[in-house]
Amino acid sequence: MIVDIINKKRLGKILSKEELKFFFEGYLNGKVTDYQMSSLLMAICINNMTDKEIFDLTDIFIKSGEVLDFSDIEGIKVDKHSTGGVGDKTTMIIAPIVSSLGVPVVKMSGRGLGFTGGTIDKLESIPGFRTDLNLDEIKKQVKEIGMVVTSQTANLAPMDKKIYALRDVTGTVESIPLIATSIMSKKIASGADKILIDIKVGTGALLKTEKEAEKLKKIMIQIGNFYNKEVRCLITNMDNPLGTSIGNSLEVLEARDILLGKEKNSLTDLCIELSSNMVSMAKNISITEAVQQVKKALSSKIAYQKFLEFIKCQGGDIEKIQISPKVVKIYSKKQGIIKKIDALKFGKLSVLLGAGRKNKEDKINPTVGIKLEKLVNDKVNIGDCLCKIYLDNEINLDEVDQYFKIEEE
Ligand code: URA
Repeated sequence: MIVDIINKKRLGKILSKEELKFFFEGYLNGKVTDYQMSSLLMAICINNMTDKEIFDLTDIFIKSGEVLDFSDIEGIKVDKHSTGGVGDKTTMIIAPIVSSLGVPVVKMSGRGLGFTGGTIDKLESIPGFRTDLNLDEIKKQVKEIGMVVTSQTANLAPMDKKIYALRDVTGTVESIPLIATSIMSKKIASGADKILIDIKVGTGALLKTEKEAEKLKKIMIQIGNFYNKEVRCLITNMDNPLGTSIGNSLEVLEARDILLGKEKNSLTDLCIELSSNMVSMAKNISITEAVQQVKKALSSKIAYQKFLEFIKCQGGDIEKIQISPKVVKIYSKKQGIIKKIDALKFGKLSVLLGAGRKNKEDKINPTVGIKLEKLVNDKVNIGDCLCKIYLDNEINLDEVDQYFKIEEE
């Protein structure tokens, strides 16, 4: 039976809800092995799923655990999710912005997936920071300070948790049906009233084309509507890394600096766009009005104060964050203007450095990563430092300067 289901999908046929349930529940309770599940996931990646199969699988994922209820917390709760990119530290920036404007934020985040980083890995680079809050602690903290960012509780879409870790190391991440199921099951089970999804598209994203992003958007909105949740999707570019840093500790420090106004780049603009959408959804106000509120939260530093309060509340000490002392600078061999910075190559490099996982059991090194010293549209001269690599292993960095596409003026 297990092999029959794999064969059916391998041949591009449609699986019934019973077959999906049998297989996926079997995986959760140990009757289906990792290699059998990997095989089915690969068949899904190659042969796709119908909308009905995606709906069925999302339902099975949701029902694999509990569905949280935050109706006892006042206000409309808007959740946000990103499909993942390189250097995507937006949650750490927008959650405090939105919360500082009086909108409660209960954000359950994930770990890195493939060459894309994960908010939980990033936050765990802060010494003492707890990402394993239970439901009582989550509710208490939201009532006290208006925000929480934590791992999915153990019993929230546990099927996604197990399959997410397997997909990460079996080349089965980039599949629209699997991404839609994974994201929407978690978001529905997390109990938010409204959901904002940042669909990343480009070389450094799981989705490479606008067409794929539109497809994912359509199915996620349909799933949300089925469960009576308003879902808004933004499609945003991910050809270049987001901001200036890639790697866990470095990204936390960059998030702090963006909130402080010390760093300002396209990441700031994206965070304003995302938080304004969340605020407009939560308060039922226009985007223009929401943008004004968000900009004020940044300039008055109330969002930065909220960031500090939240880190402290979850036990973290940002002053103790560690960056690897071993640094290699990469210099430009060309003169001209930077046209592109290859996000995918930098994402893969960050995994080699130890900032992401090659195997399910791998431990992340929070201290390693990349700090870009030059960004797209910057002018460079021969010998200028393009980026700094923080590492603690020996890897070949000879080609890193070529990750920057530099054209003569
Ligand atoms: N984010 C998720 O939560 N799941 C995916 O499959 C991809 C991005």
